[in-house]
Amino acid sequence: MTDGKNTNALWGGRFSGSPSEIMETINASIDVDQRMALEDIAGSLAHARMLAATGIISSKDAEAIESGLLTISGEVERGEARWSAALEDIHMNIEARLRDLVGEAAGRLHTARSRNDQVATDFRLWLRAACDRIDAHLSAYQAALVAQAQSHAGTVMPGFTHLQTAQPVSLGHHLLCWVEAAERDRGRFADARRRLNECPLGAAALAGTAFPIDRAQTAEALGFDRPMANSLDAVATRDFALEVLAAAAICATNLSRFAEEIVLWTSKRFNFAALSDAWSTGSSIMPQKRNPDAAELVRAKPGRIAGALQTLIIVVKGLPLAYSKDLQEDKAPVFQAIDDLELALAAMAGMAADLSFNTDAMAEAAGEAYSDATDLADFVVRELGKPFRDAHHIAGSLVKLAEARNVPLSGLSLDEMKTVEPDLTDDVFSVLSARASMESRTSYGGTAPVRVKEQAEHWSARLKERQGQ
Ligand code: ARG
Repeated sequence: MTDGKNTNALWGGRFSGSPSEIMETINASIDVDQRMALEDIAGSLAHARMLAATGIISSKDAEAIESGLLTISGEVERGEARWSAALEDIHMNIEARLRDLVGEAAGRLHTARSRNDQVATDFRLWLRAACDRIDAHLSAYQAALVAQAQSHAGTVMPGFTHLQTAQPVSLGHHLLCWVEAAERDRGRFADARRRLNECPLGAAALAGTAFPIDRAQTAEALGFDRPMANSLDAVATRDFALEVLAAAAICATNLSRFAEEIVLWTSKRFNFAALSDAWSTGSSIMPQKRNPDAAELVRAKPGRIAGALQTLIIVVKGLPLAYSKDLQEDKAPVFQAIDDLELALAAMAGMAADLSFNTDAMAEAAGEAYSDATDLADFVVRELGKPFRDAHHIAGSLVKLAEARNVPLSGLSLDEMKTVEPDLTDDVFSVLSARASMESRTSYGGTAPVRVKEQAEHWSARLKERQGQ
């Protein structure tokens, strides 16, 4: 065997010169793919056991390989592993370390395998675990929102469209909206996870192998649902990573919208909510400031995460079958995006639990800006039997009148109202309040506290039930 310094110890047989320094630098991926060390070891353990079970290697060699891999695994876990860029990537680094530890048997591990199926396997294992961690984060985020929603089912706040005061809504209802979004995010990650959970190992370089391997055994040992059916597909596709990134980009986009609301609500202009010191930062110049930096950073995360999706789409686009080295550029954007998303989710769960609400300010704002005008129009439909279009016009005229007097709708006298619609009765005042408006909206999915309580309880039970599973 040649020394790693001159030609590559693992693939240098047909080489006599060593790579240029820049060649080595552009080729090496160890800085990035060392994060898959444990996945790589898991894949190798499964492969070695299968090679022994099928008689392709001796059980003595398999045992040596296994004990060496377990030693390396301990080194990785203790942060003692030393990686070398000259050995390119995590796969060759681990194999080289294995050779140091167990000698010749290490050279038998790569029988009936290629780095192409190896890296695809490692990456799927890594992403599968990432999907599971993200699901746990989303569940914690949902739980924090549901707890707040349960306390605030009856808290009235202005609902907005176009960021203009529209109709009063329950704060709990508003928060449960983000629980629904998080649930769809969980569904997208679960869906991506289900599809990616197939095993590429045994596809070898691209065409399969002549050795009598047992792909079902390795697939099962690694917790995959089945071996991938097409060896070219197994080594060439990265659509599984694209799916996870797409789910991550959508999830980050959902988070950014609530993050923006936290920024708005904690601004003195709104004064709807406050974050404690744990979730606020100060200004280096303005002593009075409390900034919602974490919420702003979550608001910014879709830039990085959707950027990662874009990066990988462009890397993969137009690549012919099967493996091309371009695919080595898949991991950096994925790791970055998953790190960003996990941090964003943890921050959102923390802030969702931390927020304290200024229910007086919310109630006051809910009653402003003629947010009960729709209720007035609905009253005219219901009590006076007018078509909604006419009722809309009547309510609009009453808003105009109230605006001219600078009073809320409930500040007009019945006589003043009768100048617009003579058939109006005193009963109209019963619908002219933000709370009455919110309480009246009892349709399924509506904002009435009775409905919101039902939904919050439903979610609480559902989250607990799933946690127990
Ligand atoms: N480091 C490589 C990657 O991440 C491993 C596969 C290399 N395969 C090869 N044929 N050179 O894609």
